[in-house]
Parts: sequence; structure tokens; C-alpha cells
Amino acid sequence: MAEIIIVDTPADAGAVAGAAIALLVDRRPDAVLGVATGSTPLPVYSDLRERLAGRDVSQVRAFALDEYVGIARDHPESYHSIIDAQVTVPLGLTRGLVQVPNGQADDLEQAALEYDAAIRAAGGIDLQLLGIGTDGHIGFNEPGSSFASRTRVKTLTPQTRSDNARFFASVDEVPRHALTQGLGTILEARHLVLLAFGESKAEAVARAVEGPMSARVPATAIHLHPHCTVIVDRAAASQL
Ligand code: GLP
Repeated sequence: MAEIIIVDTPADAGAVAGAAIALLVDRRPDAVLGVATGSTPLPVYSDLRERLAGRDVSQVRAFALDEYVGIARDHPESYHSIIDAQVTVPLGLTRGLVQVPNGQADDLEQAALEYDAAIRAAGGIDLQLLGIGTDGHIGFNEPGSSFASRTRVKTLTPQTRSDNARFFASVDEVPRHALTQGLGTILEARHLVLLAFGESKAEAVARAVEGPMSARVPATAIHLHPHCTVIVDRAAASQL
């Protein structure tokens, strides 16, 4: 059973998650963070900006959950660009120690295998931040994803593409595929921290937290994890 923390504001959630990450980095200067994109983790990154200021984070390593396939690495909405702008630069991490799946690889299957191997070689992820899609996806593990899945290419659902259209000029420009850590990959992280804010996430949060476990709601995979913290605001908790 996941631990559920209900907070008043996204900033409060950022402080709870930020404190956990800072503690980890204090204990382990070369901690391995699992970082996520989307609007949800932003309060965590802004909390960490202040909390980690003045600390030596040069050895901290990070792995992103996912990357679009079919847009250039330097596209402003590629997750390479977003992680660089929202995590690596503001937190002062060492660029070479922050990895994002290579959605531009000629051989995506090989890139996926290499990504899982890189996570393993780093000793695994200590703390994985997760948002949740309105359809219950985590990373880009859309409904139907196996709980045992590894990093691989997934086809984005029309709902996810329309949810993410706000970052692009139109929904037609939203990529159709992504390279994402699998649910099995995500479950190997030592601590999962899933965040969700707002009414639009309430149903997905209730389905994730209250089950039943089903590949139709990929976030129900958290039930297989021994240490998962779910941090939600009151609106996202409203259907619990
Ligand atoms: C994308 C990302 C997910 C993220 C989700 C929710 O699909 N791949 O990792 O959790 O969007 O995004 P937001 O936090 O902006 O609601």
C-alpha cells in the first residue's frame, strides 16, 4: 500500500518531495535520481533550486523517464531540452551525468536496451519522481502496458497527444511515439514518488491508488512496489 500525503498546494508537495531528495543527496552525494517531465514535477524542481543551493551536487546522477520519438533533440519540447532547462541547468547538475532516452536513435530497440543497461550500471535509481497522465499512464506507459515492460517504444494515445498539445503549436505536431522506461524498469527504483495536482487528475489518482490492479491503468503498478509515496493536492485527492 502506498503512503498517501495530501497537501494544500503544489508548492507544499514540492517541499515534501524536495526534502526527501535533499536528504538522499546528503546521504549519498552520487545519488541516482529519476526525473520526470510535464508540469507536475516543476514545484519539486523549484523547491530543490533553493534547497540544494550551496550543496555540492556535481556527482548527482539522473535518468529521465522518457523522450519523444521523431522530434530533434534540440527541439524546445524534446525531453532532452526540457530536462536540461528545468533540471540540469537550474539545479547545477553535471550535464554528462544526466541521461535522457535517445528518441532519435536509428535503432530504437538498441537505444532502449542501452538505456536500461545504463540505469543498471549506475546501480539503479534511488528515487523516481512520477507524474500521472489523465489516462493513468506513468512515463509514457499507456494503458495496456505490461507491468513487466522494459524501456521501449510506445505509441501515444489520442488522449495523451491532446493533453500534451498545449506544448505544441497544434495537436498534429505532437509526436506519435515515445521511448519510455517500462513499468518493470520504473518498479526497480528504490523509492517511487508520484505527484498529482488538480481536479483533472482526480480520477486517475483514485484508480491508481484504489485499484484494482490492471494494465488498463498503468499507474496501478505502484501496488507492486514496497516503497511508494503519493503526494497530491486536495483537488487531485477529491475522488479518493
Ligand atoms: C507526459 C509525461 C508524463 C507525465 C504526464 C503528465 O505524458 N510523459 O511523465 O506524468 O505527461 O503531465 P503533466 O504533469 O503536465 O500533467
